[in-house]
Amino acid sequence: MNNHALIDKLNTAKALQKAEWVQLFSTFTENDRLYAAGIARNIADNIFGKNIFIRGIVEFSNYCKNDCYYCGIRCSNKNAVRYRLSKEEILACCEEGAVLGFMTFVLQSGEDKAYSVAELCDIVRAIKRRFPDHAVTLSVGELERADYEALYAAGADRYLLRHETANEAHYARLHPEKMTLKHRMQCLRDLKDIGFQTGCGMMIGSPYQTDACLAEDMLFMKSFAPHMVGVGPFLPHTDTPFKNEPQGSYEKTLFVLSLIRIMLPHTLLPATTALGTIHPFGREEGIKAGANVVMPNLSPVAVRKKYMLYDNKICTGDESAQCVNCLQSRLAKIGYTIVKTRGDYLAHEAR
Ligand code: 5AD
Ligand code: FES
Repeated sequence: MNNHALIDKLNTAKALQKAEWVQLFSTFTENDRLYAAGIARNIADNIFGKNIFIRGIVEFSNYCKNDCYYCGIRCSNKNAVRYRLSKEEILACCEEGAVLGFMTFVLQSGEDKAYSVAELCDIVRAIKRRFPDHAVTLSVGELERADYEALYAAGADRYLLRHETANEAHYARLHPEKMTLKHRMQCLRDLKDIGFQTGCGMMIGSPYQTDACLAEDMLFMKSFAPHMVGVGPFLPHTDTPFKNEPQGSYEKTLFVLSLIRIMLPHTLLPATTALGTIHPFGREEGIKAGANVVMPNLSPVAVRKKYMLYDNKICTGDESAQCVNCLQSRLAKIGYTIVKTRGDYLAHEAR
């Protein structure tokens, strides 16, 4: 089958065989990419209209016990200037976000054991008490099921944990031995089972990623049926073992976004900051390829440059308000509007 026929098949069957995925990733042309983008955007427009959801990210700690080879805040990076925000500082970020119209706060950090699960629960409860109509998304890494259950009981609505790669051997080349794909997948299953709107995802063009790896990512996501998918290009960070590795492909990232939209029509799919970093109009093009979420930074300006997962991350100097206004006008230019609603996964309305 030619690539257009494969994309059509995905659009009707919502599934492809592994070999078909590999063919798409290894032979796609600019024409194929634009063909997929047209279908994907049409699907998103039919479901979400011209509306784009916003999430405010609060990067509350860049301490991390892990040592992922790709990540700028890995524990071995002695050049990273570490910080932690207090509960009060986190609440102040949410306060600012609420004024700007954010209805979702994403609390993200490295795997920082200085915050106990009890403390994280306390932070979630405090946010939900102050902002009962807002959604809280957590992105704090791998925990035990009981911890996830406690965080859910405290009121957290959603959880982001990228699987990073669905291929065991590839996973082992991106992470030290004590991190396993098996545990990560267990976490994802637990999160979804507990009731979180759950997000997985991967980088495009991470070192040692093959088209077979990407095919496995697609097959995994088809069966897992995540509510959210985070996808952006791999970008090297100078203080990591992957500093000399090439960045991921911008076009391939856009193509993958479109294929995810076609395969999982209702998924909440951000045009990521990494996509906006690799190309000046990356986020706009991500939307045009089928994404329907943007995630501006709500972290205090003083710490933004310290949460550097990769080099040259955008939006680390501005006020939060500037980013919202900037995105508002950028999206308006391509015919989209930021909506100030929670933006839950359909059939997962506020519980
Ligand atoms: N380039 C792009 N994305 C990265 N992430 C971490 N390091 C990098 C990098 N160098 C992504 C990972 C992680 C998410 C929070 O950021 O996929 O799950
Ligand atoms: Fe941050 Fe444009 S979104 S400056």
